[in-house]
Amino acid sequence: MKRAVYPGSFDPVTYGHLDIIRRASQIFDVLIVSVLNNKEKTPLFSVEERVNILREATKDIPNVQVDSFSGLLINYAAEKDLHIAVRGLRAITDFEYELQIAQTNRKLSDGKLDTMFLTTSLEYAYLSSSSVKEIASFGGDISQCVPEFVEKLIYDKYRIRKQNKE
Ligand code: PNS
Repeated sequence: MKRAVYPGSFDPVTYGHLDIIRRASQIFDVLIVSVLNNKEKTPLFSVEERVNILREATKDIPNVQVDSFSGLLINYAAEKDLHIAVRGLRAITDFEYELQIAQTNRKLSDGKLDTMFLTTSLEYAYLSSSSVKEIASFGGDISQCVPEFVEKLIYDKYRIRKQNKE
């Protein structure tokens, strides 16, 4: 069984991530999409919410599982006996950051965790979770960026945040 992990923040999942998930799920027998629980960042969605969103968004892809992890990816991968991490590359600006993480993970894991890159489909090359959140926070249209149910959840969050501030 060829298994791989697709780690990320997924705050929230976008069509760009879903494109990578769909394509990676055709390459591997099992793809585990795993949400990083990063205590240093203040996310829009909690880890549980992000996991649930990902489960809903990938429910039609049977070989995709959704999980979460804390700490180093290499430790999580070792625990789950996973040896390939999948990441998407949008543009040259992603490359340096991704190369550094991939090489660090390979070195720290003594070669046990390697990274495979898929280039994002051109139609999603401009997309990022942070730009989606920024557009939504100003009431802009994000319908081309995320599934409809995610769009609703994002707007609900901003409404809640606005109410809390008032
Ligand atoms: O979606 P993101 O935020 O670009 O994903 C980044 C992620 C989660 C892949 C990366 O930050 C990660 O694996 N973090 C876990 C901590 C870790 O293992 N760091 C070592 C690499 S320098």
